[in-house]
Amino acid sequence: MSSIDLSQPLKFAYWVPNVSGGLVVSTIEQRTGWDFEYNKKLARIAEDAGFEYALSQTRYAASYGADKQHEATSFSLALLAATERLKVIAAVHPGMWHPGVLAKFIITADHISNGRAAVNIVSGWLKSEFTGFGLDWLDHDERYVRTEEFIRILRGLWTEQEYSQAGNYYNINNFTLNPPPVHVPGRAHPEIFFGGNSTAAQATAGRVADWYFSNGKDLDGFKENIAGVQAAAALAGRTPRFGLNGFVIARDSEKEARETLREIVAKAHRPAVEGFRDAVQEAGASTADKKGMWADSTFEDLIQYNDGFRTQLIGTPEQIAERIVAYKKIGVNLMLTCYLHFQEEVQAFGTDILPLVRELEADAAAKAGVDFTAPPTITSKAGV
Ligand SMILES: Cc1cc2nc3c(=O)[nH]c(=O)nc-3n(C[C@H](O)[C@H](O)[C@H](O)COP(=O)(O)O)c2cc1C
Repeated sequence: MSSIDLSQPLKFAYWVPNVSGGLVVSTIEQRTGWDFEYNKKLARIAEDAGFEYALSQTRYAASYGADKQHEATSFSLALLAATERLKVIAAVHPGMWHPGVLAKFIITADHISNGRAAVNIVSGWLKSEFTGFGLDWLDHDERYVRTEEFIRILRGLWTEQEYSQAGNYYNINNFTLNPPPVHVPGRAHPEIFFGGNSTAAQATAGRVADWYFSNGKDLDGFKENIAGVQAAAALAGRTPRFGLNGFVIARDSEKEARETLREIVAKAHRPAVEGFRDAVQEAGASTADKKGMWADSTFEDLIQYNDGFRTQLIGTPEQIAERIVAYKKIGVNLMLTCYLHFQEEVQAFGTDILPLVRELEADAAAKAGVDFTAPPTITSKAGV
């Protein structure tokens, strides 16, 4: 089934900067902190600005521009405790966690936050983190076999009593987690997001994820991605929703925005980006069909390490709003965003771009003859 739903408002998320160096590997000024105090303030700004989700990053070792890192699940829990409405998605690697331990951790986080905990299951690309910890580094597609088992266990332990599952990587024997997750109307259990682009990733996500996250893509690239996930989802009788990453550069004129992108690229930290390009050969490029994340990324794409420039959220607020709604029309349900200066720009997104998006969404729904109720947006600019 298609994920295009003009009756529902688009959802917005931002990347939690819980690793140092900002979201672009460039020496351009980035007024973005990675410490908890910065992030606590950012989370509160974001929920007031109309963001529904925040996504943390899981990283254990320096990796080409993220020299220092805070652990994702503990950081996400602290952000949940510091906010009232924001849902915080903690990134986790199968292979680093036992799924039963994570299921229990997330239930506790869900109770502390009154039903706002979520996970992003990432299958990993940074080999040295696994080998450094003495863990198995599985072949690319085998990582997704493990991920699928992992997600099935999470869902089983969150929704069933005396759950059992036998597999190649984990065995669960008649296990019941009490309490279960918080009962939230319209949500069967804490939401399961999934990040990955390769053929194996798409097939796995289609079979087991609630949400599929894509790296930055142009419109055609996103259509191709979504089709792969939906083919697997249809066979499994499932209807996942879709999130897309984009780096936002909103300025008064398109010229200024493009100039900022040029400066980011001109000041790219070349050795770090090149090191990253070598390391990510373990991702899509290592598969038989050579498809997947970063498999065809250019040097410029890799400066925003999740291909965020490709989505082209670059220009005036009006241009960006139009671009975002163009993605909604091809099936994006959630726009995941990142910025040079997170606190200022997340707030500006809420005042300058979100109201325009809501207007365009209402127009699109009216043209299609469907009802649309816009959620409230903020209208006044408070200083950051
Ligand atoms: C939105 C998004 C968030 C991700 N977050 C992380 C992360 O926090 N840590 C990590 O190691 N990998 C992360 N990944 C990368 C995935 O784990 C995976 O390695 C990558 O998608 C390559 O997979 P592929 O070769 O199947 O395309 C993320 C991917 C996406 C799309």
